[in-house]
Amino acid sequence: MQDKQTEFKKVAFIGAGNMTASIISGMVKNGYPSDFIFASNPSTEKLDALNAKHNINISQDNSAVAKQADIIILAVKPQLMADMLSQLSLTEAEKTSKLFISIAAGLPVSRLLELLNAPCRLIRTMPNTPSLLGLGMTGLFAPQNVTTSDKEYANQIMSAVGKTVWVEDESGIDHIIALAGSAPAYFFLFMEGMIKEAVELGFDEKEAKAIVQQVALGSAEMVKQNDVDIATLRAQVTSKGGTTACALESFNQSDLTGIIKKAMQAAISRSQEMAKLF
Ligand SMILES: NC(=O)c1ccc[n+]([C@@H]2O[C@H](COP(=O)([O-])OP(=O)(O)OC[C@H]3O[C@@H](n4cnc5c(N)ncnc54)[C@H](OP(=O)(O)O)[C@@H]3O)[C@@H](O)[C@H]2O)c1
Repeated sequence: MQDKQTEFKKVAFIGAGNMTASIISGMVKNGYPSDFIFASNPSTEKLDALNAKHNINISQDNSAVAKQADIIILAVKPQLMADMLSQLSLTEAEKTSKLFISIAAGLPVSRLLELLNAPCRLIRTMPNTPSLLGLGMTGLFAPQNVTTSDKEYANQIMSAVGKTVWVEDESGIDHIIALAGSAPAYFFLFMEGMIKEAVELGFDEKEAKAIVQQVALGSAEMVKQNDVDIATLRAQVTSKGGTTACALESFNQSDLTGIIKKAMQAAISRSQEMAKLF
């Protein structure tokens, strides 16, 4: 991950749940030295598992872990963030000397800074669930006071669980939520619909799932491997007057594109509302 050992910074994860475990796993796999990684959590079970697997530094004391770190990853559930940050015992000088990275959904930078109660350098990130498999898509937003080197660090850390994209305005995080955060469920819904119909056509559920899964994987891989518009790929499997053309025409009659737009706008609106919740 870094060229020289001397350039590694100490990274502390506050909250050692699923997303933390995935990011740490990716970081270690990418060569980040485990003795530069710290994690804290109220209960010991997850910490012990992380320590056993990666030999990282663990503690039940958030403040102790945060004090030692150069970079602090805020990885507790959004509704627990206020409590956790109010109990974090760091001086203002300590807070402003470190980089904070939030992975929490729904908490805007302004709210996090209010909770931190200091003019900290803070990057907001929004990973999605496939990050748990290393196939994530994370959106990142950095306010003006964050340095280029901070951004490079945040990028490296989140790249441990997949791909990253920076948004210029924080509203872009709401868009990333609609486009990547919520989006696995759109594909799941589509697959569920196909499986349901396959079962009605007489396939057994397991077989139907295997077929739909293979088609989804194959289609995603075609998009990945072919440097052409997806519309071109679609045209290539759509013979005039053929079966695919009939199916697509049926989608068009139901305005599938409009349905997708409406659903994504609904996700964006909800994300904007949720920013006021915690
Ligand atoms: N999972 C996803 O797909 C996903 C996607 C996007 C964003 N995120 C964000 O990532 C963050 C973590 O999610 P997750 O899925 O990893 O959740 P998780 O598995 O529930 O992990 C949260 C961890 O925080 C710990 N915790 C609770 N209170 C704490 C405190 N005061 N101090 C330190 N640790 C504390 C919990 O410990 P105990 O269990 O021992 O109480 C738990 O291990 C959330 O903010 C979520 O919004 C997750």
